[in-house]
Amino acid sequence: MFDVPSYRGFKEWDPEYHDAFQARLMSRRDEFCVPDNAHNGTGYSTRSSANKLHKEYPDFGNFLNQSIASYDDKLEVTHCWVNIHPHGAYQTKHNHACCDMAGTYYLKVPEADSGSIQFYNPSPVVEAMMLHRPYHAGIHLHVPTETDLLIWPGYLDHEVLYNYSDEERWTVSFLMSLNMLDRMERFPSMLDDI
Ligand SMILES: [Fe+2]
Repeated sequence: MFDVPSYRGFKEWDPEYHDAFQARLMSRRDEFCVPDNAHNGTGYSTRSSANKLHKEYPDFGNFLNQSIASYDDKLEVTHCWVNIHPHGAYQTKHNHACCDMAGTYYLKVPEADSGSIQFYNPSPVVEAMMLHRPYHAGIHLHVPTETDLLIWPGYLDHEVLYNYSDEERWTVSFLMSLNMLDRMERFPSMLDDI
């Protein structure tokens, strides 16, 4: 990808835990897929309604925290929600610059094209130059597989492409940050801003 820290895991969570988590979340479909959670196209997101799933399902929260620990063992999940994308759902370009790291776990992925995730090079110059400088990759496209775990810096722009399959794709997205004490200890100049 670009010269930014990023992580991709695959089949790294115990399959029994994955299957149980998938079954438990999908059993709550009627609760999640309500008009208040309607998102772009035909999709649903609990970003504003149920965004503490790492606390409701601590095994999953621990899995995420352990996955980032080799990079930074002080990062912790702060928000965690589910996205349900039926045929026709998508997510427009956005970022999560309010947090240190953001990520997605692929809970249920159909065989057919259900929408890849596309990351944008953080240098806007590259987007303009990519036709003339083919080594300047403007985007990085990831075709997801069930059990994929992706983590990237919160500032990185990304979008989720259209679901062309007839089945739903389920993902669990999350935000990670240092807590305030660890942040002040690591970046003491922050105290000047208080
Ligand atoms: Fe996102």
